[in-house]
Amino acid sequence: MAKTATKEQQTVTLLNKQVANWAVMYVKLHQFHWYLKGPSFFVLHVKFEELYKEADLYLDQIAERILQLKGKPLSTTKEFQANSSIKEVSPERNAGQMVEELVQDFKTITEESKELIEAAEESGDHGTADMITEICMNLEKHIWMLESYMND
Ligand SMILES: [Fe+2]
Repeated sequence: MAKTATKEQQTVTLLNKQVANWAVMYVKLHQFHWYLKGPSFFVLHVKFEELYKEADLYLDQIAERILQLKGKPLSTTKEFQANSSIKEVSPERNAGQMVEELVQDFKTITEESKELIEAAEESGDHGTADMITEICMNLEKHIWMLESYMND
């Protein structure tokens, strides 16, 4: 019983890390959307907008899952900064560097999610495990597409 409670707490802690990640991703994707320049502008400007809308959905979905689990989602920019594995960058970069940066960020999130999915499964929380698995599958698709875009 004690072990399950610990796993539940660990699930909430790891979910909060993803809240922080998606809050930072939301801002970072806007930065790329705004600062993009060059021949790929019309393609990537729209793609980055799609992705920040998706980031917003994940942020809200994960924070509300934490509330359903009787946890407390992080909710200040200070907390997001302190807990995010996603780092903010200078906007002085070209389109290719932006895409590479996003691929790395999405890989960071999918990698971190493995421990979260495991913790959720171990406490019998299949709902959280499924939710995070679905997000990871979407990210793997984005990684594939962004990498295909880079390797022309
Ligand atoms: Fe816009």
